[in-house]
Amino acid sequence: MLSVEDNEYLTGTGPGTPMGTFMRRFWMPFMLSDEIAEPDCPPVRVRLLGEDLLAFRDSKGRIGLVDEYCPHRRVSLFFGRNEACGIRCVYHGWKFDVDGNCVDTPSEPSDSKFKDKVKLKSYPVREKAGIVWAYMGPQALMGGLPELEWMEVPEDHRYQSRWYQECNYAQAVEGEIDSAHVSFLHSKLDNDAVNKAALTGAFFAEDTAPKWKVTESDFGMTLGARRVVDGGRYYWRMNQWLYPFYTMIAPVPGESRTVRMWVPADDHHCNIVCITYRNDRPVSEQELHNWRTGAAAHAAVLPGTLTPAANMGNDYNIDRDLQRTASFTGIKGIRAQDAAMTESAGAIVDRSLEHLGTSDTAIIKMRRLLIDAAKKLENGEEPAPAQNGSLYRVRSHSVVIDGQDDFDDRPDILAAMQVI
Ligand code: FES
Ligand SMILES: [Fe+2]
Repeated sequence: MLSVEDNEYLTGTGPGTPMGTFMRRFWMPFMLSDEIAEPDCPPVRVRLLGEDLLAFRDSKGRIGLVDEYCPHRRVSLFFGRNEACGIRCVYHGWKFDVDGNCVDTPSEPSDSKFKDKVKLKSYPVREKAGIVWAYMGPQALMGGLPELEWMEVPEDHRYQSRWYQECNYAQAVEGEIDSAHVSFLHSKLDNDAVNKAALTGAFFAEDTAPKWKVTESDFGMTLGARRVVDGGRYYWRMNQWLYPFYTMIAPVPGESRTVRMWVPADDHHCNIVCITYRNDRPVSEQELHNWRTGAAAHAAVLPGTLTPAANMGNDYNIDRDLQRTASFTGIKGIRAQDAAMTESAGAIVDRSLEHLGTSDTAIIKMRRLLIDAAKKLENGEEPAPAQNGSLYRVRSHSVVIDGQDDFDDRPDILAAMQVI
């Protein structure tokens, strides 16, 4: 559990909050390049850390991330004309470039210098590997982008999507790093039959109470969950959590890897940017189909929205017959199963009412790391990973070993989690 005060501290990310200030030290991945694919294409509303912003790509291909509201009379620039290197408000024609400079005020006298006094808030933006990133912190403290492995694979080796979850970012991350729920939430009633092909699926059923070994490091923490399987062998599954909101979940050996970025849109909504990638080959048509339809890793959204098709409003399409006969939940799709649990606790779960057990070790640790890091920043200590992108050169891993070693006693396992 957390005290009510600590819960507010952990979950509040708006301007001026300690956690919001901490988050603003990091580059934030917030949308896909494809959403603003062409110069002068329609702008896209972006909600980020409680701020209403607008992203647009100008005639030269540069991306602007600016205040959504026109500084003249505060109407939305979403309706603006994206033309000739700027976004022009359709109310009185004022125009702004990607840096937020006011370049035209045609409703004012032609000799007016008014535009020189007006500025639209804008944030630095970078585009890398199909994702658009923003930096919302102090200029002088801007570091580099994190060096994540998926950024280095060829374009046809990866797939990216984004969607919204209707809860606070911390809650969404907790659902992700909670290795214990896999044995239940995502299970089938007949595990032997269904999971014969996927070896690890059977392991989750074989040992439903994993033993945790969580190791802290400069980038965040490695969450080792150990299950005893196969007559006494150790199945180790190491997920990674990286400051301030990255998760890497261990894939089934030989399968694609997934990295999710749980970016606060505001305190009640999480903007999830999800990358799935392979190191060994381009993604196949079958994989793309599975990801696009929400059968694995990614959520299928309602057309033209960021809202998953299975959502709170339709009870995630729960099928009680399926729940009786085949699936533990009766909800189709791992993403929908996860969202159903994390959203059902309310947008911000009251952590003062929880009863945490040993299976919650990783979650307890993550909360503490985030709160401590934000408190350190309040005391003047800057977060190292915001400045050092090379700390992000890690990956998740799973392995079955003979012997009784902890994962971090084995140099071969530690090496497998490093991106060279
Ligand atoms: S409100 Fe935008 S130009 Fe007047
Ligand atoms: Fe899950």
